[in-house]
Amino acid sequence: MHNILVLNGPNLNLLGTRQPEVYGHTTLKIIEDLCVSHGETRGLAVSHLQSNHEGALIDAIHAARGTQDGIVLNAGAYTHTSVALMDAISSAQVPVVEVHLSNIHAREEFRHKSYIAPVAIGQIIGFGAQGYVLALDALAAHLTERSAG
Ligand code: DQA
Repeated sequence: MHNILVLNGPNLNLLGTRQPEVYGHTTLKIIEDLCVSHGETRGLAVSHLQSNHEGALIDAIHAARGTQDGIVLNAGAYTHTSVALMDAISSAQVPVVEVHLSNIHAREEFRHKSYIAPVAIGQIIGFGAQGYVLALDALAAHLTERSAG
């Protein structure tokens, strides 16, 4: 059994009502429940956390070291600004899959830059809520491959 943290950043608590034309109608609660139930089918014990505060996200990444086998991270707008989050991931030595509901490359130019991408094992972008499920599968495959090698 692998432990996985699904970590969501600022404004993602508003999913369902926040710009549904961009982010869809699925609430964060539905996404978190989906991650827990999908995780069970893949041998992953999924916990989740959402914060609007950069420091709280950094604390969660630090706490993941030695306690979590992987992180699914949607850092929201901090993706495009936070060197501190990038450094936290580099320090934590926990594999991170970066997720975005929307296709950030099809949006404003300031969203094209990700400080998470260079320190993530990969990105899943533009598939809405389904992206979290795809990220869990990607992490499960990564962890299986790593333990085999
Ligand atoms: C987002 C994309 C970000 O640019 C934005 O600031 C968000 C949500 C996404 O999931 O598509 O808050 O991370």
